[in-house]
Amino acid sequence: MDAQDVKDDLEEVLYSAEEIQTRIDELAAEIDRDYADKDVLIVGVLKGAVMVMADLSRALKSHVSMDWMAVSSYGSGTKSSGVVRILKDLDADLMNRHVLIVEDIIDSGLTLSWLKANLESRGPASVEICTLLRKPEAAKVEIDVKYVGMDIPNKFVVGYGLDFAEKYRNLDCIGILAPHVYE
Ligand code: XMP
Ligand code: MG
Repeated sequence: MDAQDVKDDLEEVLYSAEEIQTRIDELAAEIDRDYADKDVLIVGVLKGAVMVMADLSRALKSHVSMDWMAVSSYGSGTKSSGVVRILKDLDADLMNRHVLIVEDIIDSGLTLSWLKANLESRGPASVEICTLLRKPEAAKVEIDVKYVGMDIPNKFVVGYGLDFAEKYRNLDCIGILAPHVYE
């Protein structure tokens, strides 16, 4: 029997691996330009941002340091509540550092708006946000995001780090799950 193909669970592929990489290369070029005279600390939010961090960091030509944070937002199922708990804090001291938060997706914006305020309270020189995906129709708070890969429809997406019940993170593309998977 052939091995199962994870991609068979997708209703639609939104972005192929090649399309994602092209957009990440463009974001990296912008970041390189904006931080040309500064050292930047890129902060990946676990676990979803692992793929973006891996590809974005390798596309950057400037010196960067990398650190990781894990947060969980209390909420029911797939909805975020804005009440955030730190599961793993940064190792780095942010005092006078230029910080760039790297995220997979902004949905309501509640998690990131909390995280940005939290990091800003630690005395950094600056805090900006880079997200691969954003759902403009789902926004509940206004949040200033300097780098956005793609704006997407208000649908649950998986792949390239994004999961459904911890699966699909390993897909190289981003897609919409077929209803037969969760119904
Ligand atoms: P908020 O609503 O606070 O939530 O911006 C952001 C976090 O919610 C998760 N999330 C998703 N995960 N597919 C996913 O796999 C999605 O379509 C999706 N929308 C939100 C994600 O963890 C993100 O960091
Ligand atoms: Mg996430």
